[in-house]
Amino acid sequence: MSRKRVAIFISGRGSNMRSLVEAAKAPDYPAEIALVFSNRPEAEGLAFAKAQGIATAAVDHKIHAGRDEFEKSVQILLDLHRVELICLAGFMRLLTANFVRAWEHRLINIHPALLPAYRGLHTHERALADGVKIHGCTVHFVVPEMDQGPIIAQAAVAVLDDDTSDTLAARVLKQEHLIYPAALARVASGKLKISGNRTYDDASTQDFSPLRVPEIDDV
Ligand code: GRF
Repeated sequence: MSRKRVAIFISGRGSNMRSLVEAAKAPDYPAEIALVFSNRPEAEGLAFAKAQGIATAAVDHKIHAGRDEFEKSVQILLDLHRVELICLAGFMRLLTANFVRAWEHRLINIHPALLPAYRGLHTHERALADGVKIHGCTVHFVVPEMDQGPIIAQAAVAVLDDDTSDTLAARVLKQEHLIYPAALARVASGKLKISGNRTYDDASTQDFSPLRVPEIDDV
């Protein structure tokens, strides 16, 4: 089985990156982590990746004249490491439409809300303020419009009466760590088909047992 070479982009602690790295240790996982990249040289997650023997790189966006220059440097790194798929995992830098189009259907993101609800930042605070009873997370293909693009996987959690944004974030994050590796497996195995905004598994070619659909967290 040939494994797809994946770069994970982070800006901070990198817990989703860890979940992908751990999943990719399974011999039948269809992707290998070829590079962990950050736009912040001080991102905490880089140390973990290094300790795992994974190639890491940081390009400080602040030292580049603009987004295009920054992305040129990023693309050189991706070429160097023969990257085939990119996973954004807490990467807090908007990518240009040019870059996103160049990586169409090969660039995925995790978002801490049930898209299309709560695009953007502070999703947990906004969900609590709205009084929703169900919240969650989404893995989706990246398109030039922020937090849009075909949805690959979602998981829901119940919002509890005494939830704070921290407790809710923690329960959602647990689900993120389950659905992101499962979603990457589906994309990397080449069995995921895209039709408009919808994605589905091509039933004729399934041999990897992929999506573990987490149950609603009803603690
Ligand atoms: C996660 O909640 C992810 O959904 C969002 O940013 C956060 C990153 O957390 N895009 P981590 O760095 O993966 O721990």
